[in-house]
Amino acid sequence: MIHYPSAAEPAGRSFGDEEAAALAEVLASGKLNFTVGGTQTPALENEFAALLGIDHAVACSSGTAAVHLAVGAVDPAPGDEIITTPLTDFGTVIPILAQNAVPVFADLDPATGLLDPSSVESLISERTRAIVAVHLFGAAAPVDELRDIADCRGITLIEDCAQAYLTALPDGRLAGTVGHVGCFSLQQYKHITCGDGGLAVSADPELAAAMRLFADKGWPRATGERTHLSFGMNYRMTELQAAVARAQLAKLLTVVADRRRTARRLADALRPLAGIRVPAGLDRHAVWLFPVVLDVDAAGADNQAYAKALAAEGVPVTAGYLDQPVYGYPALAQRRLYGGSGFPFTSPPARVEFRYGPGLCPQAERLIDRTLLVLQWNEAYTDADVDAIAAAFVRVHARLRG
Ligand SMILES: Cc1ncc(COP(=O)(O)O)c(C=O)c1O
Repeated sequence: MIHYPSAAEPAGRSFGDEEAAALAEVLASGKLNFTVGGTQTPALENEFAALLGIDHAVACSSGTAAVHLAVGAVDPAPGDEIITTPLTDFGTVIPILAQNAVPVFADLDPATGLLDPSSVESLISERTRAIVAVHLFGAAAPVDELRDIADCRGITLIEDCAQAYLTALPDGRLAGTVGHVGCFSLQQYKHITCGDGGLAVSADPELAAAMRLFADKGWPRATGERTHLSFGMNYRMTELQAAVARAQLAKLLTVVADRRRTARRLADALRPLAGIRVPAGLDRHAVWLFPVVLDVDAAGADNQAYAKALAAEGVPVTAGYLDQPVYGYPALAQRRLYGGSGFPFTSPPARVEFRYGPGLCPQAERLIDRTLLVLQWNEAYTDADVDAIAAAFVRVHARLRG
């Protein structure tokens, strides 16, 4: 069987002498933190902001932390609501819970798994403070529509771009620059990595300042004062992380271009197959993963059957991305937080009693249970790797359609 390179091994990562040299330089400087004058973290922030064409970037310790900076800057009161997607990493939702706000789950476009703006709009209440949209797998979420909704209601749009480096809208604007804040992850499995790390970007100086404070215990370093102006965490990125992240950032364009090129090759091979929907706009997609949405009747079987048959052919694939929507996790469904108090889902502080369980978002549940297949993707895939995946898919498709 073919061994497909993965992000958990050197063959599927872009580490080289540049990262090693950058680390050695930081160690030699004796400054492992920007608070003692390290220069790597501010340089990373400047370089990332320049790449996105945005004024401000704040480095932090993870993608989850980046979303937490954004939610912390929104500063919800206990029981305030933040609308998001149930088909995402828990890191999208943890910051909402950590700030004692209530995650409200909107349903998804069944063709893409991205947030459905009409569902988001229908869930807005007088307690809604923000929307967190996820550019799932690297596809652009409908952030233009969501920004209009947010502006109309005077609430904040946070873009979770953990899976979406250089994802672009049809007009060329980059994911992360359309909402009020964009949040990125540098965790091991992402396009570029320093093991763990995050970046939050914004065009708004006040939000950026609030996020910078939140990442550093509310401490206004620039003033030289030892005081704590607001609640915050220690989410500082170290100089070692920043040095590796800068070396990785220099490779980002190539990483994304390689992923797009091979993804287009697979899409071309799969598109003619009945009942198989491949992602659109792959020139603008970050292809963190390669999602396929099935028309179960035309494809002859559901995602579970396809995943099993493809896995037997050695294809790295999963059905559904998650086993259940985020709201099915015990942390939410069984309210495993804050000592079993039910806080913040009880009323008060919430507007009404919130409960999570099956049936909340039918389209999300159908994607997970029946229609969504997710292929692992990597910049090191060769044309031969892609052709092998395509050939396996064609065989499985013929078999399952009987
Ligand atoms: C969409 C999304 N949001 C947030 C996160 C959290 O990022 P991190 O693992 O860096 O905390 C991830 C990580 O997989 C993610 O995919």
